[in-house]
This record gives sequence, C-alpha cells and structure tokens, in this order.
Amino acid sequence: MTVNRALFDDVMVPNYSPSAVIPVKGKGSRVWDQTGREFIDFAGGIAVNCLGHCHPALVNALKEQGEKIWHLSNVMTNEPALRLAKKLVDSTFAEKVYFANSGAEANEAALKLARRWALDKFGAHKNQIIAFNKGFHGRTFFTVTVGGQAAYSDGFGPKPGEVYHVDYNDLAAVEKLISDNTCAVMMEPLQGEGGIVSPELTFAQGVRDLCTKHNALLIFDEVQTGVGRTGDLYAYQGLGITPDILTSAKALGGGFPIGAMLTTAEIAAHLKVGTHGSTYGGNPLACAVAEAAFDTVNTPEVLNGVKEKSALFRELLNDINTKYHVFSEVRGKGLLIGAVVTDKYKGKAKEFLTAGIEEGVMSLVAGADVVRFTPSLVIPESDIREGMARFEKAVAKVVAAQ
Ligand SMILES: Cc1ncc(COP(=O)(O)O)c(C=O)c1O
Repeated sequence: MTVNRALFDDVMVPNYSPSAVIPVKGKGSRVWDQTGREFIDFAGGIAVNCLGHCHPALVNALKEQGEKIWHLSNVMTNEPALRLAKKLVDSTFAEKVYFANSGAEANEAALKLARRWALDKFGAHKNQIIAFNKGFHGRTFFTVTVGGQAAYSDGFGPKPGEVYHVDYNDLAAVEKLISDNTCAVMMEPLQGEGGIVSPELTFAQGVRDLCTKHNALLIFDEVQTGVGRTGDLYAYQGLGITPDILTSAKALGGGFPIGAMLTTAEIAAHLKVGTHGSTYGGNPLACAVAEAAFDTVNTPEVLNGVKEKSALFRELLNDINTKYHVFSEVRGKGLLIGAVVTDKYKGKAKEFLTAGIEEGVMSLVAGADVVRFTPSLVIPESDIREGMARFEKAVAKVVAAQ
C-alpha cells in the first residue's frame, strides 16, 4: 500500500486539508517526515505536546500502564484517574474533577453542569449563556454554538438556544446583557484560536464581579492556556481571577487524548449519578500519561523556563521584524505567542506557515492574520534559535514573493 497525501483524499472525509508532509517520527522539538526531512516543531500539535515528542517520562508512563490495565469504563474507577484528580485538586481552586477525552467534551460537561446547576437552584428561567465573539470551545454542537465563530457553528440546523455573544474585552456589553437569567459566562482567559488576544485585567475582573452579582457561573476554558502554556500552571492563577468551572485538555495529556472539567464541590454536586458520562473519560492509560505530564510540567523549573523561553522567542521574532517589517505586533503570554501580520499581509498569515514548512519549521496560524507559535514548554534554547533562523528564511521568502 502506498501511504501518501493522495491517500488522504481517497479515503478520508474532506473536513481537513493537511500538509503534504507526513511526519513519522518525533523526538523533543524535532520531527522527521517519511522522506527523512527534519523539522523544528513550533506548533506542538496545537498547544498539545507540552513536553515535545516522545518525552521519556510520558513514554515510560505509557509503557508501564500499557502493561498493567488499559481500560475499565466508569463502572469501576482506577488508580491513575484518582491520582491525577487529586493532583489537579491540590494544585488549583477546584475540589472535584470530571474526566473527558477532549477539550470539546470537557466544555460540553461544563456547559451542561452550569445549566443543571442553575435549573436545580433557581429554576428553568436561568438558562442564558454569555460567550464571546471569536471564542473557540470545540466542535460538539453545544460548544460550537457557544464559540463565537459563525463559520464553525452555522449550517447544521437549529442550535442550542439562549446563547449570546459579545466582543471580548467589552465589559460594558457583558454588563448590558447579563441578568439574573444568566446561568454562565464562558470565556478563554486568553483567546487562542480567535487571534491570541489577552484579556484586559479590568475586563476579566469585571466579568468575575458581574457573575458573582448575578449568581452566574464563570467558566474559564483553559483547554489551550492550561498546564503551563502561559507560564503559570493555569492562566487564571496568573490573572488572579478564579472561575467557578475550569476546563483543561490539550497539554494535560501531552499528546494523549484527555480532557478534564474542574469545579467546586457545591457545583459538582449537581451532576448526580447518571446525569452525564463517557465510556472513555478517565481511562487509566490516558490518566497515567497525563499524570506524568502534569508532574513534569508542574515544577518551578518548567514554569519559569516558559517565561524565559517566551522572552527569547519574542526577542528573535522582533529581530526578524526589524529586518522585514511584516508584523504589527507580537503578543500573547508564555509560549502562546501570536505575531500579527501588517496590513500588507492581511489575510496571508498562512503564507508564513507554508514557507516555514519549506524551510523546515512548523508553526500555526490563529485566524487569517496571526502566525501562532505554541512550542514545547521544554524546547531547548538551541532549537528556538535554529527554528527562528529557519523562520527568518521563510519570512524572507514571503517578502520576496510579494
Ligand atoms: C480554547 C479551546 N477550547 C476548546 C478546544 C477544543 O478542544 P478539542 O479539539 O480537544 O475538542 C480548543 C481547541 O483548539 C481550544 O483552543
């Protein structure tokens, strides 16, 4: 069988348009394709591979658990899930954890819990959900409806109701909309897919205060920002603003699919036996790998390292920009970095990504105007420098082609 990019078009549903490059091996922040070409990975599987590829701690955890027990379902609990939940609880505001398999599923659980909590405590009228334009929360029908991008949510028939959107960082708009009928406000504590947009502190604090005033739950979607990405274990800790529900996925498993919803005991009590569930959620294999990832990331060395690496990334990006004038702003936090293209390159962020692949460096976009970098949290300085040298060549190529 010839396994190549053409086979994708033959046998796969056409909802993705992957690169022609098919990676077959990864180690740390380097990846090799079928032909042996090597790439430096600044994409990290879209903020998932927090410890790069095939980190020994994760490989060991996978191998060890793989020899013990893989799957039970939630008819029985298991040791890795209990240990991971305890560590999450000990390191955050949360008192209870629900495990899922992805970010969307963690968010689906969060939204259903918020609705159920409000119904139980206040009645059916309290069902409004406020979320933000350009937000992203996953692709299940509820989460894609709460996400603020019509391109993703429209065209599938009637959506779940009572979901409203306002602009991120527009506190006055939230204030106007929120009422005692609001059951939850869902937000990313730094918008990722929407273009790497940080919240103003007054906005985040204002939303927290409005939620408290109206007995609405504040849900922080930390699927992209969580587990060290911003230099704190969770971004809420850096903001100093505590949500009522927090969701985590992506980096939580370091490349193994897992999601988690964290909340307080009082709120959690509303997901009674039988109200929600998942066959795989809390699977021992996933939790064993996630526990190893969590233990490795949740150390001062790794979290402080994110801050140092972030500074180097920004410095090198700014150096490139001094030469080529392609970015109007480099923004983000920790190793969630966005380079906003100037008007001249508006809508063309993807050209930098494509040229990067040609030069041997993998990056991402966040919308049409932002080149995004979400590398491993433990990427060595030498790989940052080498990858940026390659990215500079890619920038030169894009500029020359204009
Ligand atoms: C903030 C945020 N929430 C939710 C999701 C969805 O996660 P998943 O693709 O694991 O369902 C993503 C994915 O990009 C995300 O960035």
